[in-house]
Amino acid sequence: VSQAVQMTVQPGNPKLIVSKHIQGQFAEHLGRCIYDGFWVDPALNVPKQGRIRMDVVQALQKIKVPNLRWPGGCFADTYHWRDGVGPTAQRPKMLNLWWGNVVEDNSFGTHEFLELCQLLGTEPYLAANVGSGTVQEMAGWMEYLNANEDTPMVLERRKNGHPEPYKVSWWGIGNESWGCGGNMTAEYYTDVYKRYATFAHDYPGTQLKRIVSGANGDDAHWTETCMKNIPLNMMWGLTLHQYTLPTDSWTGSKGKATGFGEQEYFNTLRNGLRMELIVTKHAAIMDKYDPEKKVALLVDEWGVWTDVEPGTNPGFLYQQNTLRDALLAGTTLNIFNNHCDRVRGANLAQAVNVLQAVILTEKEKMLLTPTYHVFDLYQVHQDAQYLPLQFQSPEYVLGTEKIPALNASASRDKSGAVHISLVNLNPNKALPLETALPGVSWKKVSGRILTSGSVSDYNTFDKPNAVQLADFKGARKKGDNLALTLPPKSVVVLELK
Ligand code: AHR
Repeated sequence: VSQAVQMTVQPGNPKLIVSKHIQGQFAEHLGRCIYDGFWVDPALNVPKQGRIRMDVVQALQKIKVPNLRWPGGCFADTYHWRDGVGPTAQRPKMLNLWWGNVVEDNSFGTHEFLELCQLLGTEPYLAANVGSGTVQEMAGWMEYLNANEDTPMVLERRKNGHPEPYKVSWWGIGNESWGCGGNMTAEYYTDVYKRYATFAHDYPGTQLKRIVSGANGDDAHWTETCMKNIPLNMMWGLTLHQYTLPTDSWTGSKGKATGFGEQEYFNTLRNGLRMELIVTKHAAIMDKYDPEKKVALLVDEWGVWTDVEPGTNPGFLYQQNTLRDALLAGTTLNIFNNHCDRVRGANLAQAVNVLQAVILTEKEKMLLTPTYHVFDLYQVHQDAQYLPLQFQSPEYVLGTEKIPALNASASRDKSGAVHISLVNLNPNKALPLETALPGVSWKKVSGRILTSGSVSDYNTFDKPNAVQLADFKGARKKGDNLALTLPPKSVVVLELK
């Protein structure tokens, strides 16, 4: 029996909050996320409001999605919002050039997206077209949504069915401007950003959160240039995109979504754990220019990116989702929680049917992926007070390589309950754990666990509950301490009250 890991929950700073927006989702006009995911054929025999699929909405309501990013992604810099408002039959069609060259009929546009957000009770996070749009186009979108005087834009919005302003405050100015958003240099983009941000006006009742399109992975120069060139009062946030591939290569095979062995499992985790280094690196650069941490770092695209499911359109990025991906989601959310002084937003790519989706659909059927269950477990951290943890993780060794087996984060919610989320990445070894909680008075512990027989297990439309949550009864009070054994390959969230 290995020795118990000794963990301490520290009191922390009562003012430091884990922003709920760390648990945001992303919905792009890509593959079957919007069309056939959220927005379905009127003939499909599922509960619907208009064409919005309500079983999907209900599942997302349950995990309290705090914000939803739309319409992209790369698609955002090809999107012209006026094509998606007004009578549906009159909306022009376009080709979705980034994703499969399919015809986009614009039946899902601004009003439909904002109706979806309202149903979800979520904050809309729009990405403005900087790559192929104009300042006037973006400024017009803001006026259309947020103004309330009798201007032609506002009259048009009212005619299209929404008398009151929508009050959309989250605005990304471009997406991946270093790549699909225009292949710009950081120096050029920061000038472009300032120009766009100048005309991104606040209307009465809506203060904009202007968000800078940030770095690719560990590109320090991009972050440094944005922080140096853009005045702090011109930006609310700065983004970062970081995906995890099972292999290390964007060309050729990215790695399997299912049916992988332990080496590929290990490689995926090793690559995913780079998020810690990357966030630390960008946060340190931001600290130099913004020591008071006014600007939020938003990891507004993250997730596991594998090969697509055999037989599906490669441009649709449709992949299955295993316990491995859920373990990495729990790990990533722990990393974000532990950096909540700077990371105040993040968006998993993507919500439905694309990349590391929380929901997959097939005709009338729908399933919740293992990753969905992690968001279900972690919702207890939303807007809770951050509690730092101290511990030394044992290693998970495979061949000549090793990674930390254990990661964790903790918070205290408004009712005083303490939640600890624990991930054991080792697929073969349980982890005994003893935790001291000085200053916390608690009487009982309860918990829930996500695990399965194999790290490559996943849910199918025929067996949608193969991987699901269960009660965790393995934690107990030992004196003032908390004692438990964390099963191999598991995510456990404990509640102490
Ligand atoms: O999420 C898929 C794509 O990944 C997004 O469109 C783009 O921003 C990123 O490269």
